[in-house]
Amino acid sequence: MVGPKAYIHLDRLIHNYRVVHDRIGGSSMMCVVKANGYGHGAIECSKALVNEGCKFLAVFNFNEAMELRKAGIQTNIMIFSRMQKDFLEDAVTNNITMNLSGVNDIAMLEEFEKQTGTCPKFHLKVDTGMNRLGIPFDKANDLLREISANPQLNCEGIYSHYATADEGDLSYAEWQLEQFKLVLSLADEIGLKIKYRHFSNSGTVINMTESNFDIVRVGMLLYGAFPSDEVPTDLDIKPVMEYRGPIVSLRRVTAGTKVSYGGVWESRNDTTIGVIQTGFADGFPRNWYESGYVVYKGKPYPIAGRVCMDQFMVDFGDDRAEIGDEVLLFGENGNDSLHMEEIALQINSTPYVLSTGIHGRTERIYLP
Ligand SMILES: Cc1ncc(COP(=O)(O)O)c(C=O)c1O
Repeated sequence: MVGPKAYIHLDRLIHNYRVVHDRIGGSSMMCVVKANGYGHGAIECSKALVNEGCKFLAVFNFNEAMELRKAGIQTNIMIFSRMQKDFLEDAVTNNITMNLSGVNDIAMLEEFEKQTGTCPKFHLKVDTGMNRLGIPFDKANDLLREISANPQLNCEGIYSHYATADEGDLSYAEWQLEQFKLVLSLADEIGLKIKYRHFSNSGTVINMTESNFDIVRVGMLLYGAFPSDEVPTDLDIKPVMEYRGPIVSLRRVTAGTKVSYGGVWESRNDTTIGVIQTGFADGFPRNWYESGYVVYKGKPYPIAGRVCMDQFMVDFGDDRAEIGDEVLLFGENGNDSLHMEEIALQINSTPYVLSTGIHGRTERIYLP
């Protein structure tokens, strides 16, 4: 089918997994494959990662976890969303690790345990400064005691999440780490043994290795992009997604021709305008047109005019382009290279937004 294609280089995913694995020393890796593997395809990426030895996967909601189970993936899967009563039974049956992240969640688990005699595995999330999900720091003591007094509750892990891991100034992250360590010492004082402690994400894997603990939760680095332009970029990661769009039309226009909606772009010279069949409905960033470009046969060509829902135009100048060829929208292959990080920087976005946004009619093609 003619349209946008995301070529997913699974060999690069595995390469990135190994690079991160080497960097984190003895900790295990929880590979974050939520949001359809950050747009790369959760099932295929999970299968490749599990095949490589990954023991923990993480997704956001219960349905995402069940999709992986239905695809035959048997490794540990943790969910990050708020715990829901409706899913507890299926969590037990399907060995899915729940997220205890609100003070009332424990009562829900206790009731379920009383009724069924079973309890799903869970990790306790402590809020140390993100102020999203997580037990407030001042409630941690009571909660840890309650967990300790009820060993039938299946607490396997304790974790927290950084708010500023990928920023140049790490002072807030360091403070969060201190808070987390205080909670861990409370657990020690109570005598509560918790198998897995985790805090790190892609930012701190690069920035703050002292917070690696037993497991690190890694998403963006696996997919081959750095979480921000403020982290050191000394890891040899490679972009997993090569996003391409086909040239479906070419026309010669004279100088002064307006192209696309609003007529905001005008050709300075006689030139060749190509139509690329990919639009913002497929996840191509609409505001990239202002300074944006694509790469074709190793050379950059500017986007001409506003990106439309299904298509956009490119100024090929006097160069020869062929209908049916695909231009590189982002990613890397041979001489063609345009990293998501560069686009993110130019349009004030992030690689997270760009990669998870790839959808619509995009066909994913998995390369071994
Ligand atoms: C709770 C949690 N842990 C880990 C991650 C992975 O973060 P990153 O992709 O920066 O490694 C995320 C992603 O948003 C998350 O929500």
